[in-house]
Amino acid sequence: MHLKSSDEIEKIRASCRIAADAMARVADLVTPGVTTAHLDEVADEYIRQQGAVASALNYRGYPRSICASINEEVVHGIPGSRQLVEGDIISVDIAVKKDGYHGDMNVSFAVGEIDMETRRLLETTKQALEIGLAASEPGTRLGDVGHRIQTHVETAGFSVVRDYCGHGIGRNFHEEPQLLHFGTAGTGRRLQPGVVFTVEPMVNAGVADVRVLDDEWTAVTVDGALSAQFEHTVAVTDAGPDVLSRFADLPF
Ligand code: MF3
Ligand code: CO
Repeated sequence: MHLKSSDEIEKIRASCRIAADAMARVADLVTPGVTTAHLDEVADEYIRQQGAVASALNYRGYPRSICASINEEVVHGIPGSRQLVEGDIISVDIAVKKDGYHGDMNVSFAVGEIDMETRRLLETTKQALEIGLAASEPGTRLGDVGHRIQTHVETAGFSVVRDYCGHGIGRNFHEEPQLLHFGTAGTGRRLQPGVVFTVEPMVNAGVADVRVLDDEWTAVTVDGALSAQFEHTVAVTDAGPDVLSRFADLPF
């Protein structure tokens, strides 16, 4: 597990800044009638203007620059001609590489008005992310981070997706360590200063199981129930968790 220097952490933060600014542009466009292809184009153009590239583009053959996962789509939805509809939820994943370092984040949005139970799903997922981030300090075991996330989600009556995890990030989009968003307290490696990774719980309103569509990317819930996700990139430091993709001027 590569421990990052403060110079490297600042490079990751700079990439996260671009991802967050692209997310802010996408957030302004999330309204009924917009296509996910348009969201992708706007994000991609902004990222290129910053002299950066979208980490997802061409990653293992992924064809677009962002992921846009609507309703029962859990993760890795490919932007296209589908239009958002009032009452939808959409999870937008934006990762950026600049100056050799990646930064990664994901936000779920409501399209117009959503019902109360859907709002509770979004809120619970965001809380699960915040619990994971708060736990990301020196000495915490990875299993404890996962356990706290899982407990919060299941207490709310929802389920944690098992098939995708958080990941170390730096020169590589995905590197050590893996963070499972479920687990057993008191197990796993202990975090130490210089570890940089993502916390990105995917939470389903129904069962945890997912399947991948014929496009070989889009994961959906097997029962068709809604799914939400939030993600930040965090550095473990002596002063506690440093959320590299959070900025005081942005709401994410
Ligand atoms: N944040 C997601 C992840 O870390 C984004 C994946 S991009 C894709 O897995 F190219 F793999 F789709
Ligand atoms: Co990620």
